[in-house]
Amino acid sequence: MKRNSFQTSILNLGFGLLGLIFFILPNVNAQTTKLTLDLTSPGANVSPMLYGLMTEEINHSYDGGLYAELIRNRIFKDNPTKAEAWSLVQDDSNSSKATMKIIAAIQDNVPFDERRHAINGALQSCLRLTVEKAGSRVGIANEGYWGIPVKPNTTYRASFYIKGTASIQPFRRPGSQQPPTPDVPVIEDNTAGPITVTIESNDGKTIYASGTIDLVKSTFWKKYELALTTSAAVKSTTDARFVISTTRTGLYYFNLVSLFPPTYKNQSNGFRQDLMQMLVDMKPKFLRFPGGNYLEGPLITDAFPWKTTLGPLENRPGHRGSWGYRASDGLGLLEFLMWCENMSAEPVLGVYAGYSLNGDHVDSGMLLKPYLDDALDEIEYVMGDVKTYWGAKRAADGHPAPFKLTYIEIGNEDWFDRSGSYNGRFTQFREAIEKKYPKLICISTIADAQYPTQKVTTGKKPAVLDEHYYRNSWSMWENASQYDKYDRNGPKIFVGEWATREGAPTTNLNAALGDAAWMTGMERNSDLIIMSCYAPLFVNVNTATATAPKAWQWDSDLIGYNALTSYGSPSYYVQKLFGSYLGNRIVPMTAENIPTQPRPLTRRDSTDGITTPPLVPTVFYSATKDEKTGVIYLKVVNTTGKQQAVEIRLKGGKISADATMIVIKGDKPDDTNTIIEPEKVMPVTSKIKGVVSTFTRTLDPYSVSILQIQTGK
Ligand code: AHR
Repeated sequence: MKRNSFQTSILNLGFGLLGLIFFILPNVNAQTTKLTLDLTSPGANVSPMLYGLMTEEINHSYDGGLYAELIRNRIFKDNPTKAEAWSLVQDDSNSSKATMKIIAAIQDNVPFDERRHAINGALQSCLRLTVEKAGSRVGIANEGYWGIPVKPNTTYRASFYIKGTASIQPFRRPGSQQPPTPDVPVIEDNTAGPITVTIESNDGKTIYASGTIDLVKSTFWKKYELALTTSAAVKSTTDARFVISTTRTGLYYFNLVSLFPPTYKNQSNGFRQDLMQMLVDMKPKFLRFPGGNYLEGPLITDAFPWKTTLGPLENRPGHRGSWGYRASDGLGLLEFLMWCENMSAEPVLGVYAGYSLNGDHVDSGMLLKPYLDDALDEIEYVMGDVKTYWGAKRAADGHPAPFKLTYIEIGNEDWFDRSGSYNGRFTQFREAIEKKYPKLICISTIADAQYPTQKVTTGKKPAVLDEHYYRNSWSMWENASQYDKYDRNGPKIFVGEWATREGAPTTNLNAALGDAAWMTGMERNSDLIIMSCYAPLFVNVNTATATAPKAWQWDSDLIGYNALTSYGSPSYYVQKLFGSYLGNRIVPMTAENIPTQPRPLTRRDSTDGITTPPLVPTVFYSATKDEKTGVIYLKVVNTTGKQQAVEIRLKGGKISADATMIVIKGDKPDDTNTIIEPEKVMPVTSKIKGVVSTFTRTLDPYSVSILQIQTGK
């Protein structure tokens, strides 16, 4: 092999820390790790949709996350007997007397008199504030999603339905068996007049923003809206609540109480700015939604109810989520699509296909037909012309232009369905969808490689299979090359959920090293891997308080936040860099002398009779080329705590001596970012000079390096 005796030294142009160094060193011995990039023959195309995002309502991803609404339990349905997140405000309990109570949606034990407060079929529960004595301020307070975020110079939009009345004697229909006397004293109606609305500290001592509405005398519900603005002097905090208060007696009923901060691009019913920006920065090519388990629901009746997530918030009753809390459905189908639009990404729509988390399934045939029809309606809502029924609905909801849609996923993780019904369910869905939309591609949720005995066998072979992998870093390193061996004549692969699960609530550096190694494998095989997306995307990192449960259900997530701030895990930065620095052609590579290390034995090894620790590589690599710019993106991962020298050979083509390098690294595998130390592990960019056709690079310990080399096009 031809070697240069000495390669020129680098010039680190100074973004750099000492450790962020690109060494050009003489080659030392025959065992040197070598990576050869063949620039003479362009490899396969990189899938244009290789990197995307997967999302569902888990860990308060939307309510208390991306969806900017700040009021928790805004329609009082989270708990039929308790006003979750709400509390009574009484500045002076000597001079005032008040109580607060949920008036739940129609239930047998609700007195008949109290059943007349529904606004419509979606808004049937409400909160009643009973004020018997009002010598000082009384009201209701919402604690938000682990606090209301207060920021200086910020205008919040508040709105709510309210009506004031006197307590009355129960209405009895003649001859009815109804009901016991309602639990309200007889109080005169003094409710009309100013109602104060504030964002204030939890102890009520500091008012951050304040306004009033004028409550009119009416026995009917009326919606009020106002803006609340904080001053420049206000200090950012989450130690705040939202309060609606009065100093007059009477009965006050509340519903759909809402408070929005400024949203991403000022979209109404929109997204939290910082979180949407973090997603946009990842440059994802698609968004897989609405799940995940969230698509399926605990029971068949809890499947994602896309039809009742449309239109005005007044029409959205919310539904039981899949992760132990109710979903407001403020982030509904159109919002998912707007989210895609914000990122210039395509939706990958998961449609409910008759299987839910408790194991119930709907048999294919006549029983499944309504679910199939619902999916066809949903597809029409997304991509139908405005002349179609659901396309017209989408236009009426404010988006006449159809959305681009290529992939439909039929269900989620149907390998859990031990009945074997997926074969029939998938086939029925695929045939009907392809008949109506011949260009749509249906994805099967059962992958041949993972569940060979359960794969779809009826009719045409599925064109795309969804594989899911949640692994530790050892397992990622061990399996990073698995796709090198896949059959190129079989279906394409969508890695629809995957993650290296180490660290909580967000992942640590070691997980990011597992991710990066795994991604080099997907990238080298992106003729086969047409799409991939990490999961879960979001986590609200709040732990349990006296009034609210722990916010997250799943450890090892990508982006963490509280009500006020957010941060990316080391895995987030790996995702962002891999998505941002990607060419359109795979550069064929060969490797020699890749160092290995023994993987600790697992219980599974013991079951499988493996007694010698398997050796796994410690250096991972991939390269792609952007044919328009001539830039090569070489990604190299060093999973060990030692520096590792790698000889890089660029075979063929002109190379510029100037290159850019981005490195993510840390001192130890469990280095991580947190809400209080959000930037401990961050990418650092440096400029390097003196790149030639063969050179040696010393990889930093625990590092992911992306080298951008300019070639002649
Ligand atoms: O990502 C968390 C969960 O893992 C998803 O909801 C489900 O599809 C998978 O089992």
